[in-house]
Amino acid sequence: MAGTSVIGLQWGDEAKGKIVDLLTSQFDIVVRYQGGSNAGHTVVLGDQVYKLHHIPSGILNHGVMNIVGPGVVLNPPTILQEIDSLLERGIPVAENLRISDRVHVVLPWHIAEDRAINESLVGGESIGTTLRGIGPCYRDKYGRSNAVRLGDMYRPDFREKISSIVAFKARLLSQLGVSDMLDAATICDEFGGYAERLRPYVQETTHYLHDALEAGKKILFEGAQGSLLDIDHGTFPFVTSSNSSGVGVCGGSGVPPRWIKRVLGVAKAYTTRVGGGPFPTELHDQTGQRIRDLGNEYGTTTGRPRRCGWFDAVAVRYTARLSGVDGLAMMMLDVLSQLPEVRICVAYELNGQRIDRFPSHVDDLRLVQPIYETMPGWETDVSKVRRLEDLPDGARQYLDRVTQLVGRPVDVVSVGPDREQTIFANSLS
Ligand code: IMP
Repeated sequence: MAGTSVIGLQWGDEAKGKIVDLLTSQFDIVVRYQGGSNAGHTVVLGDQVYKLHHIPSGILNHGVMNIVGPGVVLNPPTILQEIDSLLERGIPVAENLRISDRVHVVLPWHIAEDRAINESLVGGESIGTTLRGIGPCYRDKYGRSNAVRLGDMYRPDFREKISSIVAFKARLLSQLGVSDMLDAATICDEFGGYAERLRPYVQETTHYLHDALEAGKKILFEGAQGSLLDIDHGTFPFVTSSNSSGVGVCGGSGVPPRWIKRVLGVAKAYTTRVGGGPFPTELHDQTGQRIRDLGNEYGTTTGRPRRCGWFDAVAVRYTARLSGVDGLAMMMLDVLSQLPEVRICVAYELNGQRIDRFPSHVDDLRLVQPIYETMPGWETDVSKVRRLEDLPDGARQYLDRVTQLVGRPVDVVSVGPDREQTIFANSLS
């Protein structure tokens, strides 16, 4: 399997970090290729909990190279904190982490702009971003003239470039009511310092990946966020600013499609969402609160409580096709184990008609009513189960129905946060 990608199929937070960490030992290189510090990937190893924002989850497997690819937007102080925290715990980061010189840099004005416009409403609702400057940084990337790539920070005209952008941004931000934060010399000194500390990790990565693939190395691509947050194919405008579905792997990494041989789609056994936007199967009742408590559904990056609801097979069928998924990893099955009954959304009703396709316009998605199938819960602790055949009948029936509705086999079932709490239904190698 030259290239395998691990892609979230819902609105992010599907526990992709655990799957990447489990698979990493079969790969030579792990690549992050989109998003930035808005991502929060949690990996639990024994009593240690690692929270990663930019660095691929493969970093915890010594001997595997981890690449932050060109499509990522990089927050230098945040990645430096991640590096320091890994080094403190004895993880060999110096040997195993490389950052593309093509990544775009999140600068203070991006964060200020994100904060200033976050309250703007889209159809009466705020997007509710992570306030990490992600959208404004991607906006500058596509606008080009005010963009700063990591490689620019090592060029002789870096200070000049920053000064001219600061002058422009100060004018823009003052119109948004932000006036107190942009001093070009201070920003140059601060970011010049970060650039020096990052220097050992920075390199051209695209040729590196091509060489590796041609030499027979295996690469794992680690998606951030989820397919429903994809800028082009998600629930626009309540999305992130990158291609977070499987379609983003090639653009963000520089690896062409011919090398991607397998896609593992990761979904929770229920659904969560943080931030604004429609969520057809959202639960506003005690069951929703119960799922939030049992699943500890609070954001890794922002600490915000996540909105919780039933599994939406209409949405996941769509994203499994969009992302080219071969098999599913079903996460957090243990969380449903205490519920007396479980539901799966099998279709929607829109304007009196039954539909089984995910709508393209957010206004239609706001109007859909989920059509549910209800199944008895299994009410048995599954966290110690390690083989599919040892799961209670109810849990197996639930997984079988998901397989049928989504049209992809369940290859992995996760029954707890630890590496060991995993059932491999099919071989992934
Ligand atoms: P942004 O990526 O910070 O611009 O946020 C845009 C939307 O994507 C908001 O609804 C965020 O809550 C959501 N979002 C961004 N990153 C993540 C993530 O890693 N997990 C879940 N939701 C995310």
